[in-house]
Amino acid sequence: MSQRETWATRAGFILAAVGSAVGLGNIWQFPFKTSEYGGATFLVVYLVAAIGIGLPAMLAEFVVGRKSNLNAIGAFEKLGFRNWKWVGVLGVGTGFWILSYYSVVGGWVLRYMGGSVTGAYFADPAAYFGQVSAGLDALALHALFMILVVAIVAGGVEDGIEKATKLMVPSIVVILGVLAVWVFTLPGASPGYSYFLSPDLSQLSLSVSFDPLPSFSGPLTDIIPFAVSQAFFSLSLGMGAMITYASYVGEDQSLFGDSITVVVFNSAVGILAGLVVIPLLFVQGIEPGSGGAGALFVSLATAFAELPAGRVVGVVFFGVVLIAALSSAISLLEVVVSYAVDNYGARRPQIAAALGGLIFLLGIPSALDTAWLGWFDTLAYQLLLPVSVLGVLVFIGWVFGRPAVDELLNGSSLGGGVGMTWLWLVRTVVVLGVVLTLALGVQTLFFAENPAIVPPL
Ligand code: PHE
Repeated sequence: MSQRETWATRAGFILAAVGSAVGLGNIWQFPFKTSEYGGATFLVVYLVAAIGIGLPAMLAEFVVGRKSNLNAIGAFEKLGFRNWKWVGVLGVGTGFWILSYYSVVGGWVLRYMGGSVTGAYFADPAAYFGQVSAGLDALALHALFMILVVAIVAGGVEDGIEKATKLMVPSIVVILGVLAVWVFTLPGASPGYSYFLSPDLSQLSLSVSFDPLPSFSGPLTDIIPFAVSQAFFSLSLGMGAMITYASYVGEDQSLFGDSITVVVFNSAVGILAGLVVIPLLFVQGIEPGSGGAGALFVSLATAFAELPAGRVVGVVFFGVVLIAALSSAISLLEVVVSYAVDNYGARRPQIAAALGGLIFLLGIPSALDTAWLGWFDTLAYQLLLPVSVLGVLVFIGWVFGRPAVDELLNGSSLGGGVGMTWLWLVRTVVVLGVVLTLALGVQTLFFAENPAIVPPL
């Protein structure tokens, strides 16, 4: 087998992991899901999930990747557990599924860059979003976005991915930060902050009755599956991405420290985006929850229409969002490409192009109708992501067990106690949290009055 690539620098891995994590999930999806599912209550559940489930799960994926030094599917076999290969397959499948509509939203971002130059959305931002979010134009831009992703992945790990990320994270933080400060000065913004930041504790309730199957009710029924899966989506978990990236990491690097950096950065960017988008919705008198998938685009377009030098700000902003989206999408495609390269000795450029083409095809319904995009997204959140993360957790906790702790501690100065605590948390609380998430997701998907599993035909 040919020499496997590794990250060029120590910082390469962490940059790429942050680059994978920070993306449309934080900037587009987090504000819109938060405003749709209860504001501050959603934020609380999201943060608990990111730290309590996301962090330990990320460490589990890192361990699988670094220990095996292989792609997400090959990894389980290499560790000696052929029967667990399905976890890798499911992760790759989930990534494939998600990238299909992620790329459509990436196309919207391209569109809005252009729209900022010409000022096309200035007159009526909501109508503009309605026009450009679905249809043949959206399809063409979905194709263009996929072409960009393929081009970068074809270039290989070091050249393509490491460089793109270095610039992105600081720029996103600065631009979002400046926008957040500006939004703060706008009249009418303040109810947005209480909606986003001060939780109504009475909303934190969930009841269950058995008949004989469990059935859940209460405000958290919807909030939990969306908020927990939002943490997975946003941290790039359950899609083999972190397994794949960690497979290029040396034994001398502290996985523990790296995972904390990723979680902190990632949540910070999401919250910053929320501080821009949610108050803006209130300023414009848009009911939280009615903005839907267009929340980011409509609210910001309105802002840029009013800002001095709005066109320039718009281009720069959507340009940075584009880089964030690309660096995430790259990691999704990389998962599949890495499998094909490791296993079949496939040539990187060809396989990247072929797979990119398939993902494009899968994204066609989402590009033609946002109802399909929503359906793809719901299925990923309620089913694919929790099952896939659960698979990794059960594997590491109950199947692989102790050796995972040794691998985790390689390159770290932490004592064995921390490692064992992690393992026991994974085995118990973390697994139970994901089981609950999945149970709630399955209820809305299959047993609700209007089961979400029914496609929008
Ligand atoms: N975490 C990325 C985001 O928030 C999306 C992503 C998921 C990327 C999974 C790679 C793998 O946009």
